[in-house]
Amino acid sequence: MTKQSPALDNLLTESRTFPPSEEFAAKANATEQWYADAEADPEAFWERQAERLHWQTKWSQVLDWSNAPFAKWFVGGKLNVAYNCVDRHVENGHGDQVAIHWVGEPGDTRDITYAELHREVCKAANALLSLGVTANDRVAIQLPMIPEAIVSMLACARIGALHSVVFGGFSSSALRSRVDDAEAKVVITSDGQYRRGKAMPMKANVDEALDGADTVEKVIVVRRVGDDLEGGVPWTEGRDVWWHDLVDAQSDEHEPEAFDSEHPLFILYTSGTTGKPKGILHTSGGYLTQVAYSHHVVFDHKPGEDVYWCTADIGWITGHSYIVYGPLANRATQVVYEGTPNTPHEGRHWEIVQNYKVTIYYTAPTLIRTFMKWGSDIPAKYDLSSLRLIGSVGEPINPEAWVWYRKHIGGDRCPIVDTWWQTETGAIMISPLPGVTHAKPGSAQRALPGVSAKVVDNDGNEVPRNGGGYLVLDKPWPAMLRGVWGDEQRYRDTYWAQYAEQGYYFAGDGAKYDADGDIWLLGRVDDVMNVSGHRISTTEVESALVSHPTVAEAAVVGATDPTTGQGIVAFVILRGGVAEDEAGGEKAIQELRDHVAKEIGPIAKPRQIMVVPELPKTRSGKIMRRLLRDVAENREIGDVTTLADSSVMDLISKGMKSRS
Ligand code: WTA
Repeated sequence: MTKQSPALDNLLTESRTFPPSEEFAAKANATEQWYADAEADPEAFWERQAERLHWQTKWSQVLDWSNAPFAKWFVGGKLNVAYNCVDRHVENGHGDQVAIHWVGEPGDTRDITYAELHREVCKAANALLSLGVTANDRVAIQLPMIPEAIVSMLACARIGALHSVVFGGFSSSALRSRVDDAEAKVVITSDGQYRRGKAMPMKANVDEALDGADTVEKVIVVRRVGDDLEGGVPWTEGRDVWWHDLVDAQSDEHEPEAFDSEHPLFILYTSGTTGKPKGILHTSGGYLTQVAYSHHVVFDHKPGEDVYWCTADIGWITGHSYIVYGPLANRATQVVYEGTPNTPHEGRHWEIVQNYKVTIYYTAPTLIRTFMKWGSDIPAKYDLSSLRLIGSVGEPINPEAWVWYRKHIGGDRCPIVDTWWQTETGAIMISPLPGVTHAKPGSAQRALPGVSAKVVDNDGNEVPRNGGGYLVLDKPWPAMLRGVWGDEQRYRDTYWAQYAEQGYYFAGDGAKYDADGDIWLLGRVDDVMNVSGHRISTTEVESALVSHPTVAEAAVVGATDPTTGQGIVAFVILRGGVAEDEAGGEKAIQELRDHVAKEIGPIAKPRQIMVVPELPKTRSGKIMRRLLRDVAENREIGDVTTLADSSVMDLISKGMKSRS
């Protein structure tokens, strides 16, 4: 990975601040004092946070960092993650509290209490055991946003098996590479899923993925769409089993076993700078401690009072940490919605907020910008007065979007928490503390109590106020990744090699301090794009393009996009013998876009593909993406002096103009 200067041209000049209301501050879960307490004694602070959980055996040491960068937290402690998320709430007399208000896209609903969730998780755990799944085995899950997705994850956690959840929109080949990498023994999926009012197949995609995948012994299939699915469900006798046949027949009792604090909990794949996705590994005690802690203080969550809604998909880390583990550990009542935000109409989210009296709403900037585009008259039709806190995650939030969100969704009264974190960090790291922080539109501001972040230059020296550089995490944290599945070297190289001398974790994000020392995130500094909050690597899309028979070479860049944050723009060189009018025509371009969707998934479809005669390269053969980004964003082309052939950019620009 090369270090390049982060885009300082998008340094924000926003200077408004929004202090918390006295009323909110008076009841807030955290106070200013927490920062000082955590700083005075971080380990004692984290011990207090770990006490939120039920431990079968208490730890003997808070942190063992002697084998850095491999951390051990709450060493010697033993706990069961699922017990902490479900059983103990039932044992404490909250069995009748609704855990999940589930809303299906077609309008069907289910309310699931903690007592019911407990029975379902026990049955699913028994079902997995009956298939021979044991602790440390891997279970791949590709499911829509239905209760069985959460139940499956908790069932794995309960028996010490690792889940690897694969986003429902990923293609069969993306699923296959994840199944193979983790050597999954069981796959859990559904017959289909509802998308924009239609039943779409899912099992068929899984079958395509699993053709010849010899680690997989069983496939459990949830019936979600049933007869709505055209063409029925493909079935492999002996391998496939219906969820309702297998799980419903099980006992709803299961004695949870306590696992070591460092027992692996899950693998979640995320894009890196090279083509192959990385399996980010998280473990039990530290992870659960920090997601429960952060959910408590960042969302100011009050169990039994709040109705919480995180709109993420469980296929992403946000769904893992802030739908499944954090909220359930904290005995939340939450909304889980299956579908898209404009089905059957653009007010769907606000209708749900109104109906369930949602108090805490957590979403992504890309969706906020989409809501802006749809118009403020849509949320205005609904009663959103139940909301008391709103949040954002996934990419930098533009000040305009922040201000719109505050006014049109938050009624000018709700604090906004702009939360910075990553799949790798496991939990929120940088965020305002509601009731404490004077919020600034567009800034995540300050590391949470117990967390330490810095903005540093190339050499690892902290930059002064108003200075820009790279974001690092300079102290280990409980929910930190414990490695990249099966690839220790990649873990060291990706995160710890940049600042090896200082021992800092390199996040891959550009950042700056403002005059008050608050942190502003500026986007990725590596070859990872952020499209609608989804991480996609340029190399992944390039490889997909080059795998098409007409393409010889491809270069992909993320260009600024008003709605999705970044849009994927691809430049392709055709193979010899392929005529440009044939392969560069509209139909052929559409075919290339579809090909990428098939290889990776619809989220990776390029917004734009341009056929070019050459790509700009340095003398050492490295593609100069910076110049292509200039083209893609319609800017004056930057410095071309390091190009091997400086006329290349003229050719590309001319080609662009003749087409536009
Ligand atoms: C970006 C999502 C600015 C960042 C939880 C990070 C953000 C990547 C923010 C991780 C934010 C996430 N402000 N940028 N509040 N939140 N990011 O792994 O570039 O899907 O490195 O985790 O998203 O994406 P991931």
